[in-house]
Amino acid sequence: MYNSANKILILDFGSQYTQLIARRVREAGVYCEIYSYDTSADKIRSFAPQGIILSGGPESVLLENSPRIPEHIFDRGCAILGICYGMQALAHQLGGKVEVSSKREYGSTEIYINTPSLLWPSDEESQKYSVWMSHQDKVVKAPDGFEVIASSDNTPIVAMADKKRRYYALQFHPEVTQSEQGQLIIEKFLFDICKVKPEWTPAQIISLLEANLQEQLGDENVLLALSGGVDSCVVAALLHRVIGRRLTCVFVDNGLLRLNEAEQVMSILKENMGVEVIKVDAKEIFYARLKNISDPEEKRKLIGKIFIEVFDQEASRLPHIKWLAQGTIYPDVIESAGTHNTQAHVIKSHHNVGGLPETMQLKLCEPLRLLFKDEVRKLGLALGLPEKMVYRHPFPGPGLAVRILGEVKISYITILRQADAIFTECLHEFDYYNKVSQAFAVFLPVKSVGVMGDARNYSYVIALRAVETTDFMTARWAELPYELLARASSRIINEVPGVARVTYDISHKPPATIEWE
Ligand code: XMP
Repeated sequence: MYNSANKILILDFGSQYTQLIARRVREAGVYCEIYSYDTSADKIRSFAPQGIILSGGPESVLLENSPRIPEHIFDRGCAILGICYGMQALAHQLGGKVEVSSKREYGSTEIYINTPSLLWPSDEESQKYSVWMSHQDKVVKAPDGFEVIASSDNTPIVAMADKKRRYYALQFHPEVTQSEQGQLIIEKFLFDICKVKPEWTPAQIISLLEANLQEQLGDENVLLALSGGVDSCVVAALLHRVIGRRLTCVFVDNGLLRLNEAEQVMSILKENMGVEVIKVDAKEIFYARLKNISDPEEKRKLIGKIFIEVFDQEASRLPHIKWLAQGTIYPDVIESAGTHNTQAHVIKSHHNVGGLPETMQLKLCEPLRLLFKDEVRKLGLALGLPEKMVYRHPFPGPGLAVRILGEVKISYITILRQADAIFTECLHEFDYYNKVSQAFAVFLPVKSVGVMGDARNYSYVIALRAVETTDFMTARWAELPYELLARASSRIINEVPGVARVTYDISHKPPATIEWE
């Protein structure tokens, strides 16, 4: 628990943008958490927020059983900002009037500020903004005590405020980047209306997490399954600072990692940071058991199962371990506890080390469970992890096995590793690595005819994939420069024996997925 007065609560009414609100608040340097709209008064009292943001949501307040703002929220006397559904619920419950309009308003809309308010950026000459709307119902009469502070051509009441009670409401979404001045409006609410201080900085987060870990772990020993990804490496660095040699990391080399990945992870953590890492070379076990398996789901499940067996065996050799640490982050927590996405937890525990806690009877330590990825990255830098590791693209648990279509063979892995490393080098060379969210090569076990020198070349095909996304749930293929693609293609065909052709994947997600299997 974060014991500061500078805290904001976001009550979730089911909007797809709720996480984005939380990220905007955290970006402003203010700690916040997301609770479901029906959270008990006790829980909210013990969190003790200085302000409450009511999120948007897919429902209509005009329906009898749609979510309501709990009455105890109004008894707290703290500032409230209602966004979209949150505004309609405020109006509906406080004596205003909401109506369904014949036309849904979706997309960018011009709004006019017609009354000065603490919510509006004061130094702005312009009193006209372009903002993002997504609603069908709208407030047609503000409740007593409120004044209308902005309008649009379609919607006379776009924003309303009750200065006395410090209740503010917006029909548009300030949290999405398409809303001009959106971040500033959120900051005005935080700093000028709630009067919280921006103290949620990496240094502050580190000292808070360290104090929590000290209290949680006492003098007990911790085991961490290190994947080499940024989350588990940050957990390693953090735990190492707090418990030193009482932390043991196990890094399983499953033979499905990128070029030199195992060595890099070991050298950064063990040699540069002094973290104790046990590297388990399980390549042969994985290769042997993956033989003749070509179904994608079967491969994924088998890899997860072998990983657990190998890890479990290693853990049983370390008798004094009481805790299993994991790099779970806030989006996993929100999704698993979420009001709308109950599937997510199952998927994620499979991604991590699912099944281990029950079989090994270890207590679970998840120090990053309230942080977003960008916060974890900042923390990583503050803890001294190299930028190259902190800003690495995500890599799936089953590794290169889901980037080799069909059966996994060592000869295919060798080809794919080299091709993937060349593509990554080209992305860096053209300064595109950090402009895309994820990029990699895929091995296609089909042969194609080519010509090398004067000879016929009958070899395999490599597909390149690069995507742009923020949430990885949807993604667009990245429009990489032709020069970059040309360089990657010619280098791969010339330098990697066994490749005759390179293609670029131009499929969005959906309908495709990011990985090929
Ligand atoms: P898809 O292919 O589902 O991938 O569009 C979405 C994101 O998830 C990553 N991914 C995984 N990560 N274990 C992981 O830890 C997995 O089994 C797994 N499968 C996909 C993928 O790389 C992309 O970032």
